[in-house]
Amino acid sequence: MKIKIKINKILLLLAGITAMISCRKDATFLPVNIIPEPVSVEEQGGYFEISPSTKILVPGDNDDIQDIAGMFAQRMATVSGFTLPTEKIKDKRNDHGIIFKLLPGADTLGDEGYLLKVKRKNVELSAYRPAGLFRGLQTIYQLLPPEVYGDKPVKNIKWRMPRVNIYDKPEYSWRGMHLDVSRHFFPKEFIKRYIDLIAMHKMNVFHWHLTDDNGWRIEIDKYPKLTEIAAWHVDRSDEPWREVTPPKPGEKATYGGFYTKDDIREIVQYAADRYITILPEIEMPGHTSEVLAAYPELSCTGGPFYVQPGSYWPNVAIFCAGNDETFEFLENVLDEIIELFPGEYIHIGGDEATKTNWKHCKKCQKRIKDEGLKDENELQSWFVKKIEKYLISKGKRLIGWDEILEGGLAPEATVMSWRGFEGGIESARQGHDVVMSPTSHCYFDYYQANPDFEPEAIGGFTTLKKVYSFEPTPPVLNADEAKHILGGQGNVWTEFIATPEHAEYMSVPRMTALAEVLWTPKEKRNWPDFRKRLEEQFKRFDAMGVNYSKGSFAVEFITEYDKANNRFIVKMETEQLNPVIHYTLDGTVPDTTSPVYDQPLEIDTTSTIRAAIFVDGKMKETFSERTIVFHKALGAAVKYKNKPDFRYPGQGEITLIDGLKGSKNHRDGYWQGFEGDDLDVVVDLGKVEEIHRVSATFYQRQKSWIFLPVRFMVSYSEDGKNFSRIKSTANDVSPKKDGNFIKEFAVDFVNAKARYLKIKATNLGVCPEWHRGAGGKAWLFVDEIVVE
Ligand code: ACM
Ligand code: ZN
Repeated sequence: MKIKIKINKILLLLAGITAMISCRKDATFLPVNIIPEPVSVEEQGGYFEISPSTKILVPGDNDDIQDIAGMFAQRMATVSGFTLPTEKIKDKRNDHGIIFKLLPGADTLGDEGYLLKVKRKNVELSAYRPAGLFRGLQTIYQLLPPEVYGDKPVKNIKWRMPRVNIYDKPEYSWRGMHLDVSRHFFPKEFIKRYIDLIAMHKMNVFHWHLTDDNGWRIEIDKYPKLTEIAAWHVDRSDEPWREVTPPKPGEKATYGGFYTKDDIREIVQYAADRYITILPEIEMPGHTSEVLAAYPELSCTGGPFYVQPGSYWPNVAIFCAGNDETFEFLENVLDEIIELFPGEYIHIGGDEATKTNWKHCKKCQKRIKDEGLKDENELQSWFVKKIEKYLISKGKRLIGWDEILEGGLAPEATVMSWRGFEGGIESARQGHDVVMSPTSHCYFDYYQANPDFEPEAIGGFTTLKKVYSFEPTPPVLNADEAKHILGGQGNVWTEFIATPEHAEYMSVPRMTALAEVLWTPKEKRNWPDFRKRLEEQFKRFDAMGVNYSKGSFAVEFITEYDKANNRFIVKMETEQLNPVIHYTLDGTVPDTTSPVYDQPLEIDTTSTIRAAIFVDGKMKETFSERTIVFHKALGAAVKYKNKPDFRYPGQGEITLIDGLKGSKNHRDGYWQGFEGDDLDVVVDLGKVEEIHRVSATFYQRQKSWIFLPVRFMVSYSEDGKNFSRIKSTANDVSPKKDGNFIKEFAVDFVNAKARYLKIKATNLGVCPEWHRGAGGKAWLFVDEIVVE
């Protein structure tokens, strides 16, 4: 017995020594910074190094794999100067190199999943389908130094990849990026570069917005005036986009351009080589001034129309739905589109079609009557159904913006939900497929940082962090409905984006955040970790010469109750990694002599914090400011009867008792929104306290369907069972009151002792009959419950 123990001890010791030796041998843990984060990564220590004699090994019978391996060989030749020999896989034991192969039985990997094993002597990339190998190749690039993304040979560099085992596949099947080439025209070379960016992010759809009021961008043989006339507008690049002077009589249209059919074929092939599907969009029935400028006979009024050099509102240009020639034209155009684009879907637009002309058009009104339609919305629905029928007859599927819900969805239509999540939710509930692309998270033409320091944008505010917080599948959907959410898409509208450099600036790195949301399983998404990996992605963009945005320099305040030490703390976060932050607590402007933020601050009195990032001793942009209200409920436990809506969760559970008040921007992340529901919570202070006053702040912006509560009610209890009588305050502000403003509701108590507070604020319920959303659910917004 004793001897056995001894032997075991010796064995253990030996094992330890062996482990130490092998550990020492493989002590190098090269960094792994893959974006999007794979499903699973096992780091093993050690590395594989590519040398001029490293073979690329491929099966002899598969052109697709040879093409993918060829792209890799080409890339390595560009950056290393050596041409790696490519050979056929022969003998598993003696093949050393970088192996690309299919695993015929591995259907659980799906079309785009892959396995990557980086060993000391071999790199083995395998997938069920070639697309998976292409996605896996992007991971190989990201395991190599960022210089692999460059366009010339790099000296003094070791092409090493860390030893890893990776299993990976995408969460969503639709991972798209859109580009509007109508508002501004972008050359073919940039389209390819944009596709390169999509490819490196393992995304798989390029939505090409080819037609709109400002220019038709694709050659159609049957309708030459689309490229002679519709592709060009008068140059107003020196005037504000929304206030441009209309064309003068006889003025030459000099701004524009289009892609020839050969250009299109070349780009379609370029995308296909990268396993990216191009989704062409042909707008109808609205956003069609440019077509009607060329073919006014397709309008209700006969024109004249002109190709718009900017945007006007309302925009009444619309195809006549009562004229059969409209459909003859559209079917002919679609025939040529279908011939060029092999993808499953055609996007028919459908958004923002102002139907004024339909109301006054005899032909359109006759169509409504003849077809037994109720109104102009049903006429648009009839229009889209007719087009869908045609597309289906040609073996294609129709997708359109969420307005195609109005008047009834076409039977097999897929919906791109842009005006929020609602259209997508409704469509999924009706059993239709959905691509989520809400303005709140997916509009990359919106500002991404403080507008004071950014190039002019169309408006909005969608930070990198906001994009990263995007959840394509709304939790209100059940499992069957959720299956209809195909994925999501980032949209780059170009009213305010005139150059490729600017388009890159707006797209990247928000595209990077979106790519991770759509590829990586929800439980593996992690904002701090993403930001760290993003630093490496920036080096890749540098190697590619991409004009990416350096992001926001704003300081964000996050409060937390530190249970362990029974104190309330504030943390400062930014989009920058390891910035120098100086702050003040007395309302003065911070400078380099102000304290440096290096750990969470304890807050024990109401304080106004100002903080800014400093680079080379200078304040970057401007300071952030927020008042933290110190009160008795900070960090208290809050039990909700109704959860806030998923679109307005604030900062989560802590929002109501985090000491942070919201601003007059209800999307600032400090407000919780309840759709149709009351605020109905129990706050547990943790111990019995004397209380004098309980208040809460609410928000009204009736144009956004947000109203003050009807009544604010509080009762209290020492034991959580026996509650005092309710004290309440009624709202004395009209729901009609316009603008956006904040109002405090409070009740006062005398000699009250409480641990538990029942707090209720009644929602107006539905929008009143005078309101444009009459009968629709009203919103209630609250930011903080203050207990004194
Ligand atoms: C859109 O942004 N009009 C789809
Ligand atoms: Zn008409």
